[in-house]
Amino acid sequence: MKRRPPPAAPGPRGWPGRGRGAATVVHAPDEWRATTVQACGLWPFAVGAGTPVTGVPLGRNLLSGATLCCDPISWFQRARLISNPSVFVLGRPGLGKSTVVRRMALGLAGYGVLPMVLGDLKPDYVDLVEAVGGQVVRLGPGRGHLNVLDPGEAAAAARRLTGEARQQVLADAHGRRQAIVSALVTVVRGAPPSDREETVLDRGLRVLDDTHDGARLGAPTLRHLLEVLRAAPEAVRAAALDRGDRSRYDEVTEELEATLVGLVGGGRLGRVFAEPTSTPIRRDRPVVVDVSSLDDAQGDLQAAVLLACWSAGFGAISVAHALADAGLEPRRHHFVVLDELWRALRAGRGMVDRVDALTRLNRQRGVGTAMVSHTMGDLLALPTEEDRIKARGFVERAGMVICAGLPAAEMPALTQAVPLSRAEQELLQGWQDPPSWDPGTGPEVEPPGRGHFLVKVGGRPGIPVRLTLTAVERQLSDTNRLWRELSRSAGDDLPAPAG
Ligand SMILES: Nc1ncnc2c1ncn2[C@@H]1O[C@H](COP(=O)(O)OP(=O)(O)OP(=O)(O)O)[C@@H](O)[C@H]1O
Ligand SMILES: [Mg+2]
Repeated sequence: MKRRPPPAAPGPRGWPGRGRGAATVVHAPDEWRATTVQACGLWPFAVGAGTPVTGVPLGRNLLSGATLCCDPISWFQRARLISNPSVFVLGRPGLGKSTVVRRMALGLAGYGVLPMVLGDLKPDYVDLVEAVGGQVVRLGPGRGHLNVLDPGEAAAAARRLTGEARQQVLADAHGRRQAIVSALVTVVRGAPPSDREETVLDRGLRVLDDTHDGARLGAPTLRHLLEVLRAAPEAVRAAALDRGDRSRYDEVTEELEATLVGLVGGGRLGRVFAEPTSTPIRRDRPVVVDVSSLDDAQGDLQAAVLLACWSAGFGAISVAHALADAGLEPRRHHFVVLDELWRALRAGRGMVDRVDALTRLNRQRGVGTAMVSHTMGDLLALPTEEDRIKARGFVERAGMVICAGLPAAEMPALTQAVPLSRAEQELLQGWQDPPSWDPGTGPEVEPPGRGHFLVKVGGRPGIPVRLTLTAVERQLSDTNRLWRELSRSAGDDLPAPAG
């Protein structure tokens, strides 16, 4: 028999053959993670992580264990991974959507970006914004008012500006006020105002601006707008196309007048919008608008307050940018959080357009946005096909989409907006399983998918990540605290969060 010649080089287990030291068991080498500054000394044994490391540290990649850093502003501005600085977060209730947005807000605050939470219904963000030294604006019946016609800082800013910049600030403030009045009318009626009513509102606001004695009466309110409408000045009558006939004018504006009376007179929406603003939103500090006093049963009021917050918040940001463009103030970047988006969208036909009008142009204004909603089902439950298509557009246009656990029924609609492979769909469905019921340790067993997210950017493979709360966050982000306090007072002690 012919003998085989000895190999020229050892195999992966060493020199084969008796007495030559070949190993039967090969241990996997240890792996460490380090910064490039530290790891460069180990050349050539260092490999790059597969996940981006620019931005706010979110957690570990579930597959590779590598750290994932991710936030819309850093991914847009520094890493150039996404086409606009926005994120849409979807997932079943209680799986940690608000928590992941809080993490981004906290991390971005560390980078000097100002978080602006426009409407916190739970409240999920108040502790956090207080902890970073921000402003808490309280709104709701008996807690605070927001005058939607108050130009806010826009009037003061316009006085500091000249030429085109000044015109733009004034035009923006006007457009914003018209948009929010139309949005409130939409909420009250459940349907948008007609074209003619919109023109009447537009003229009415202009007349109000020209005739209102701000020095004596302060900022105009909806009450003053109603007075203008009733006084029927020439410009408004022309917009109403009354053809010189006052009774025709009254006919045309009757519906609008009735809606405005409802808004100022404490109708369904109370008087939140009809009084002077109690605390103006600041543009130079982190801000949270606490609207947690509103009851879930007052769905209309919640939607109207959220819209008013967005209008005021985006107004403050646009003033900040106009002043920064003119070199009068330092450039500030904001991270705007629109949590519980579905509540506003559900408030009536045509709401999607209003939301779009109030929150548009985030790229031009150097603003990062985070929109949070439960499921695509929420967006697709809107009354008209037009609204449904536009609502899906929010998800399609977002720079990145972060999904938590979602039911199988969501997948057809979701994959239309974000391409998801079958494996990714199964991952998301696995994360929405209910927690096991454990009477021994009490009812608060973690749902298995809590804190698990899939980060999707366009058609790229998703990055599955697990967010682990830090000790500080655990203290701050315990949104189940109210339950615990309640059950403690009822003598039934729920376990405190781990750690
Ligand atoms: N990664 C995590 N680790 C541990 N606990 C978490 C994590 N994420 C969230 N939680 C806890 O889970 C609870 C619900 O989280 P959160 O409010 O963020 O969920 P949500 O998806 O925003 O819910 P909703 O849809 O009701 O607004 C909170 O008590 C929070 O502290
Ligand atoms: Mg939430």
